[in-house]
Amino acid sequence: MQRRDFIKTTALSAIAVSTTGFIRFDGKHYIGNCETTSDVLGPFYRPDSPLRQNLVIEGQKGDPIELMGKILHEDCTTPYKNAKIELWHCDGNGVYDNESADFKYRGTAYSDQTGSYSFNTILPVPYGEGENYRPAHFHLMITTEGYQPLVTQLYFVGDPWIEKDELSSSPTAIRRILEVQNLGNGSKKVEYNVSMAQKLAAEPAAIERLVGLYTNEKDSTKTMELFKKDNQLWMKNEPFGQNLEFLGMNTFTLPGIPPQHKLTFVFEPMLSGAVKLTETYSNDKGDKNVTVYLKSA
Ligand SMILES: [Fe+2]
Repeated sequence: MQRRDFIKTTALSAIAVSTTGFIRFDGKHYIGNCETTSDVLGPFYRPDSPLRQNLVIEGQKGDPIELMGKILHEDCTTPYKNAKIELWHCDGNGVYDNESADFKYRGTAYSDQTGSYSFNTILPVPYGEGENYRPAHFHLMITTEGYQPLVTQLYFVGDPWIEKDELSSSPTAIRRILEVQNLGNGSKKVEYNVSMAQKLAAEPAAIERLVGLYTNEKDSTKTMELFKKDNQLWMKNEPFGQNLEFLGMNTFTLPGIPPQHKLTFVFEPMLSGAVKLTETYSNDKGDKNVTVYLKSA
């Protein structure tokens, strides 16, 4: 399967669950299932959206809504100060601003001393075609130090498209289907608290060594580009990329692979400075697909 096709398939079908959403023991105490579950990044993320909490555009269609809540550490209690929160969503016609310098309905904010954040914006609407509609949703990316960047989506109670959508109907999304409160003045409010989850992190210097352009050993027209962002290893795809999750031992995977499938990227730095990358994908039927890439020194 070609890289691009694979990304497309997984981006549409996969739910990024990883370790979140389950109770686990951290060596001292149990960490509850309060952690926020992730969702796919989707094709419309744009980095570097403007620092602003008000995304409302005068004269544009859409119900005003405040999205607010707290960013918490993995104990789900301690406020996380100064977390970076990126919000993006479609306009009142279901269209994303993917190109303009205005970055419409896109903004970046930071949590305050109490972990609180808020955005004033409009309620997104479902978008799609025919029977293939996505329910209305906010996209969020939360970046903190010491935790895995969290990419997630929020849905709204009562949206008829939720049960037909693979992502929002997943059991892991239940706590991300939120009640919209109607305030007296005609505006709306939705509250979403985020708990961060810690995962293994690769050494930033080691990541540095792995970034670059990899070429398929058998077909030089097939390449894969890796880059570093927020001390994580990312794989470039259109229009941006997806962060890889470190599994230890020079091995990474992509968050969002269904549990019955397995995808690993094993890196072997060579003495020459070149890096060999072996991608192994296996499905629930035991079919295995191994591709070797090389990055020159
Ligand atoms: Fe979306």
